[in-house]
Amino acid sequence: MSNNPITRIGVFTSGGDAPGMNAAIRAVVRSAKYYNLEVYGIYRGYEGMIQNDIKKLENINVGYILERGGTFLKSARSAEFRTPEGRKKAYDNLTAHNINALVVIGGDGSLTGAHLFYKEFGIPSIGIPGTIDNDLSGTDSTIGYDTACNTAIQAIDKIRDTAVSHDRLFFVEVMGRDAGFIAVNAGIGSGAAATLIPERKMPIETLIERLKSRAKAKKQSNIVIVAEGGKSGGALEISQKVKKFLPNYDIRVTILGHLQRGGSPTSFDRTLASKLGVAAVEGLINGKADVMVGVINNKIVYTPIKKAIVDDKEVDEDDFRIAKILSQ
Ligand code: F6P
Repeated sequence: MSNNPITRIGVFTSGGDAPGMNAAIRAVVRSAKYYNLEVYGIYRGYEGMIQNDIKKLENINVGYILERGGTFLKSARSAEFRTPEGRKKAYDNLTAHNINALVVIGGDGSLTGAHLFYKEFGIPSIGIPGTIDNDLSGTDSTIGYDTACNTAIQAIDKIRDTAVSHDRLFFVEVMGRDAGFIAVNAGIGSGAAATLIPERKMPIETLIERLKSRAKAKKQSNIVIVAEGGKSGGALEISQKVKKFLPNYDIRVTILGHLQRGGSPTSFDRTLASKLGVAAVEGLINGKADVMVGVINNKIVYTPIKKAIVDDKEVDEDDFRIAKILSQ
C-alpha cells in the first residue's frame, strides 16, 4: 500500500504486443480523466522511460484505438532497464515529469521490471496482464489470449481444407513461449488429432499409435498442434521424427508465428482490457501498489506482482483431458 496521493499516472506497454492492449490504454486514460488525474503515455515501454519518450495523453488521443490490434504506445524489450543505471535514468525522467504512479501493461518480464522498480524507487505501480500466452496467475485470462486462440483456430480451419483435400498430415505450431494454453485451446476448438504441450510429455510412440488408430477409424484428416517451447522440439522436429515411423504419410508443417499476435481484439479481450484499465486506475487511487489486477470468476482481483509472476499457472487438467477424449 502507498500513502502518496496520485496525481499523474504514466502508462506504458511492454514486451510482446497483444490484441486488446490499446483497449486497456484507452481505459486507463479515460478513467484517469474521469477521476481528474493526468496521464502520460510512455512510448516503447521501459526503453521510452529511459529515452524520455513521454507525452501527455488526453481522451482525444485514445479515440479509435479500442478496436485495433498492436499498441499505439509501441512496445519493446529493454536490455538497459535490466541495469541499475538504466533504471535510475528511467526514474529521473519520470520524476522530471512529476509522474507519481505507473500502469504497466505486459507479460511476466514486464511485471518483473515493475516489481523491481517499485522496490528500488517506491513509485506505486499496477500491472495489467497483457500477453497472448496466458501464463500469469492472478487472472483467469490475460489480455490477447482469447484473440490469439480465435486467430489460431481460424487459421487451422483453413489448413484443414488442404489436409482433407490432399489426405495430408499437418503439424501446426502455435505460440505460447513455454506454456501450452493456446495449444490446448486451439486443439479443442479445431478438433486436433493430438496436442503437444511443454507441460506434458507425449512419447512419439503414443502419437504414432494415435495416428494409426485414426487411420483405422477412417478419419479424413489429421492436424497435430504443437506448442512452441516443447522439450521434444517444435513442429518441424516432431514432424521429422514422425516421418521415420510413417514414411508413407504426406506431411506438411505450418508455423503460425506472429500472426497470432495481431488483429482486432475479440469482444472478450476488449471487455477484459477495459475492465482492467479502469480497475488499475481505481486501485492506484485506493492506495494499491506493486500488484497486478486480474479477473477471477468474473470479479476484479489484485494479486501481488511477485505472486503473479512466481506462481505457475497450470493448463487446466480438464481441458487437457477433453482435448484427448475428442481426438480419438
Ligand atoms: O510472449 C508472447 C510471445 O508471442 C510468445 O508466445 C513468443 O514465444 C514470443 O512472444 C516471441 O517473441 P518475439 O516477438 O520477441 O519474437
